[in-house]
Amino acid sequence: MNNVELLAALKEKGAVIDVVMKEDLAIIESPLLAEIIHHAIFQGGKRIRPLLTLLAAGLIGTPPADTARLAIAFEYLHAASLLHDDVIDHAILRRGAETANTIWGMEPVILAGDYLHAHAMALASEVGGPAAMALIGRATAAMVESEFLQLRNAHEILTSEENYFQVLRGKTAALIAAACEAGIAHNQGTAEQRLALRTYGTNLGLAFQIVDDLLDYLGDPAKTGKAVGNDFQEGKMTLPLIKTLALADARDQEVLTGLLKATQQERSRELALVHGLITRYEGFSLARAQAEALLGEALAGLAIFAEAPAKQPLTGLAHYVLSRDK
Ligand code: IPE
Ligand code: IPE
Ligand code: MG
Ligand code: MG
Repeated sequence: MNNVELLAALKEKGAVIDVVMKEDLAIIESPLLAEIIHHAIFQGGKRIRPLLTLLAAGLIGTPPADTARLAIAFEYLHAASLLHDDVIDHAILRRGAETANTIWGMEPVILAGDYLHAHAMALASEVGGPAAMALIGRATAAMVESEFLQLRNAHEILTSEENYFQVLRGKTAALIAAACEAGIAHNQGTAEQRLALRTYGTNLGLAFQIVDDLLDYLGDPAKTGKAVGNDFQEGKMTLPLIKTLALADARDQEVLTGLLKATQQERSRELALVHGLITRYEGFSLARAQAEALLGEALAGLAIFAEAPAKQPLTGLAHYVLSRDK
C-alpha cells in the first residue's frame, strides 16, 4: 500500500466515522449545546483516534458492525478534552477557526465538554461493555491527572525531560493507547494482542505529541490552524527547548532562563532568537530523532501480528504521524 492508497483508505474510513457521529449526535435537543458540539467536532480534525480503533479491530479479522460506534467515543473524548484544554490554555485559535470559548465564553463550553465526556462513556458501555468503559474511564482519569501535573510544572520555570514525558503519557498517549486497545478488544483480541496494541498506541501517542510540539515552533499556521511559537510565549517548555537548555553553554542558558522568567511580551519579541538557539544546539533534530525512536518502538509492538494487509494501514498511520504538517 503506497501513501496515496493509504490516505484514500483513511479518508474513506474517516467519512464513515463522520456519518456515524452525525446520526448519533442528532439526539441533542438544546440548540446551543448542539451548536457548540458541532463546532468542536465538524470543524476539521484528522480523526486519528477513531481510525486507530477501527484499524486495530481490523488487525485480527473483520470487525463487528458496531465498531464504528465504539470508535466515535474516542473522538468525542478527544473533542471534549480540546474544548476544556482551550479554556484552560485561553486558546483563541484551533483548526484555523476561533475556539469555542472565544465564540461562546467559558461556561457553556465547559458544559459541552462535560456532555461529550458523559456521552462517550455511555456509548462505550453500550457498545463495548464494561471493558471498553474501563478503558475510556482510565484514559480520562490519566488526562485529568496530567493537567494537574502541568499546573504544578507551571509554577516552576524549568521542566525536566522526565516531567515532560510524564505529562505526555497522560495527556496524549493514554487516550491513543486506549483507542487502539479498545479496537482489538472489541474483536475478541487476546490479552497478548491487547498488550501489543497498548505498546503501539502509547509509543505512537508520545511520538505524536513530540511532533505536535515541534509543529508549534516549525509549523505553517496556514496548515496547523494554530499560532506559531505559542508554547514558548506561554513559558511552556517542550522537548526541543528542554534538549537545548541541557546542551547550551552558560551564556545561552542564562539567556533562555532569563526569557522564561520574563513577561509574555518579552518572550514574543524574542521568538526568533530562541528559534535560532534551538536550531544551533540541534534541539529540533534531537526531538525529532526521539520521536522516530518511539515510532520504532510502536511498530515493534505490531511484530506479533502476521504480515496481513490490515497491518499496513497501522504501519502507514504511524509513519504519517511523524511526517504530518498539520
Ligand atoms: C491535537 O490532536 C491535540 C494533541 C493531543 C496534540 P490532533 O492533532 O489529533 O487534533 P485534530 O483533531 O486532528 O485537530
Ligand atoms: C493538547 O494539549 C490537548 C490535550 C491532549 C488535552 P496542548 O495544550 O499541549 O495542545 P494544543 O496545542 O492546545 O493542541
Ligand atoms: Mg492547548
Ligand atoms: Mg494544554
